[in-house]
Order: sequence, then C-alpha cells, then structure tokens
Amino acid sequence: MNQDQYRILSRRFDRRDGHKLEAYEADGGYRALKRAVGELGAPAVREEVKASGLRGRGGAGFPAGVKWGFVPQGAETVYFMVNADESEPGTFKDRYLLDYDPHAVIEGSAISSFAVGAKLCVIYIRGEFGWLVDRVQKAVDEAYAAGYLGQGAFGGAYELEMIVHKGAGAYICGEETGLINSVTGQKGQPNIKPPFPAVSGFLGQPTIVNNVETVAAVPWILEHGAAAYRKFGTEKSPGTKLFSVSGPVRRPGVHEIPLGLPFREFFTDWLGGMADGEELKAVIMGGSSVPVLTAAEAMETALDYESLAAAGTMLGSGGMIVIPARCDMVELIQVLMHFYWDESCGQCTPCREGTGWLHRIVKRLRRGEGAPEDLALLERVCDGMAGLTICPLADAAVMPMRSFLQRFRPEFEALAAGRRTIEPDSRWAREIRS
Ligand SMILES: Cc1cc2nc3c(=O)[nH]c(=O)nc-3n(C[C@H](O)[C@H](O)[C@H](O)COP(=O)(O)O)c2cc1C
Ligand code: SF4
Repeated sequence: MNQDQYRILSRRFDRRDGHKLEAYEADGGYRALKRAVGELGAPAVREEVKASGLRGRGGAGFPAGVKWGFVPQGAETVYFMVNADESEPGTFKDRYLLDYDPHAVIEGSAISSFAVGAKLCVIYIRGEFGWLVDRVQKAVDEAYAAGYLGQGAFGGAYELEMIVHKGAGAYICGEETGLINSVTGQKGQPNIKPPFPAVSGFLGQPTIVNNVETVAAVPWILEHGAAAYRKFGTEKSPGTKLFSVSGPVRRPGVHEIPLGLPFREFFTDWLGGMADGEELKAVIMGGSSVPVLTAAEAMETALDYESLAAAGTMLGSGGMIVIPARCDMVELIQVLMHFYWDESCGQCTPCREGTGWLHRIVKRLRRGEGAPEDLALLERVCDGMAGLTICPLADAAVMPMRSFLQRFRPEFEALAAGRRTIEPDSRWAREIRS
C-alpha cells in the first residue's frame, strides 16, 4: 500500500525547508486563505468544513464546523484560540506540525478565525516548547510581512491579529477553559460549563478553541473540497489522522493514516511490528487518558472514533503507546497516576484527593507494601471521582486506572498477595519521584 497517498497533514514533515514561507507558498500555500476571503466568504467556509465532517483532533472528536456554528449569530467580538498545549503523555503530533509546517497551522488558524468572525487569534503553545515558540513566531512574522495578517491585509477585507502565547507548562492549561483563563492572566484552572466558550469565553466573549491538527487540516479541505476529504476515512470518522507512536516498534514517530485503518495493518505496515524480538502486550490508543487494550483486543479493532469506542476505549489525541511484554502494568499505571496527581489543579476535592489516593495505593502495591483489599479500594476511589468534577481530568485518571485493573488484574493481585515483587530500582521506579 502506498502510504504517501494519505499524507495531507504530514506532507512537509521530511522537508528541511518546509517551515519557510517560500517553500509553503511554492506548494500552493495561502491560496486557500485568499480564496476564503476573496471568493467564498465566511458562511461558505463554515459550510465546507461542516460538510467535510472534520472532527476536532484535541481529544473529544467534536465536529469543527458544528462547533463553529455555536458562536451566536451577529456576535460583534469573537476570539479564536489554537490549542498547542499538547501535554498528554504519549502525544507529540502537534509539535511536528508546529515545527515542520507552521504555515499550515497559521493559514488554517487564519481561515478558521475568518470563518467564525474573529479578529484576534491566539496560538497557545506549551511553555516547555521554547524552540517551537520561536519557530512559530518567525512564521507569524513572515505571514505579517507577506500581507496575510494584520492591518491592510487583503485590501482591508480581513485584518486578523495573531499572537503567539507561551504557557508556563501545565497539563490543565490544555483544557479549553483553563487555556482561556491562562491567556487572561488568571490561574489556568477550568470553569464549570455551561456557558461553553463558544458562547462566553475570553473576556466573556464568544471564543472558539481548536486543536493544532484540526486547524491544520482546514486549508487542504478548502483547496480540495469536502468530498475529496471524505474519500479518506469512514462515514462518521472522515479524513486522515496523525498518530504519535511510542514504544518498542520498528518505526515509532508520527504517522498519518486514513481513519478506519485496522490496527493490525497499521501495526504491521506502518510501524513494522515490534522491534528486536519484543512481544506486544497492550496498547494505549489515544493518549494516557484512554482505557488500555490488550494486544488481542487491539488486533481486532480499527483506528476510528466508533470502532475504538466499540472496543471499550477512545481515539483521544492519537497518542499511541505500544506496551511490550516486559513492561509491568503496575509500574506503568503508577507513572500515569503520578502524572495526574501532579497535574490536578486542585479545585475539586474528588480530583485533588482522588488522584493522590490512586497514586499512593498503586505505589504501595508496587513496593510490595499493599494488601488484597487495595484492589477494591482503588475501585471505590475511582467511583468517587468519575463524572463528579469540573473538568474531565479526574475521569482521565479513572479511565486508565479502571482498565488496567480490569484487563491486567492478575498482575495487581499477585503483588497484593505477596506472590511477586518488582525490582525496587527498575527503570520506571527511578523515574518516579517517591
Ligand atoms: C486535562 C485536559 C487537557 C487537555 N489538553 C489538550 C491539549 O493539550 N490540546 C488540545 O488540543 N486539547 C486538549 N484538551 C481538550 C480541549 O479542552 C478542547 O476540547 C480542544 O482543544 C478542542 O479542540 P478540537 O475541537 O479541535 O479538538 C484537554 C482537555 C483536558 C480535560
Ligand atoms: S477535575 Fe481536577 S483538574 Fe479539573 S478542575 Fe477539578 S481539580 Fe482541577
């Protein structure tokens, strides 16, 4: 199978000059923005993106065109924000777009801003990505200089200001209301919804927040049309998707595939299978927040929103973590629970306390200091967290925890009963703060 035919978003990933304006324009870059402003107009752009069925790539998979339609008609001030926080363990696809193809993100953001009537667009980049802030800022400067942004752009027909905003590096600033609060200069803590940002967001005005990969797909959709986009993927999961793959496979990294591709085919043809005699044990398909699948379950599913839901997990951000047989699932879940505990913003008691309890219980199990009752306790703590908090971070900890317990229970039971131990100085253990 010719994998290059699916490269819509990743087509400049292996070019050294792909990030430069000249190279982008030589590839037809900014034609879609010119056409959007000069010919189509905002309603037609919204319709085309809606018809394409493009679903948000930040995790929830909500259709972008439908979300844009939630901005109240006639709203005078609308803001557009691009979510480049990308802090979910296992997820590293947006940074490829920002690094190798920043103009696709900028053009997609400008078209999306135009579609919703925004005059200010903020690209919110995770603080740790210092080099990406520079890379994107340079590209934004180039776009201003070329007359695609700022005063006088398109003869005054569409004047968009674009700001690159550097976050301080907190997972919760990726949640859209946390992101908006952070840009406002407040603590990056989420708000209760409703109101949703599309109605009341930044400075109380309608604000659309979209993921980097979502906006990067928009120029291609306008260039080639919704029908061409729908030729990739499935009816309900149209288009292509970037998967960032980590773990001991032959070809880890970022891969673009048509949605609906069977995992088995992706694993064999794209990833080249496991490296160096490793054996596949489990797969986390969509970033660390989604339920883990056993190798057998993974082999029977396909990579689209509906198939993964039917398999008991989620597509999420597309951060695929391939877990080899040598990995101890109790150690792995401790790493993940440490992350959620560390990153809880602390507003909700079930999340603030629950993530701490989950981490402490799995830690004592790993150390051989647990008891058989700890498994039921873990489940009780999960029950006290799920669906009871302001934002889904608590659920993001509960979903992997429950699935690890359900699918790899014997590993937990043997530790709890003292039938096995884990080396105290294993690699994971050294990486976890005690
Ligand atoms: C704790 C948490 C962290 C999140 N982090 C990100 C992130 O880094 N990037 C992102 O695009 N969406 C993230 N999201 C989802 C956003 O809240 C939001 O749904 C998304 O940016 C919308 O963009 P989309 O519709 O294009 O997917 C996060 C959500 C939660 C609850
Ligand atoms: S669920 Fe956790 S991260 Fe989200 S608002 Fe509540 S305390 Fe903060």
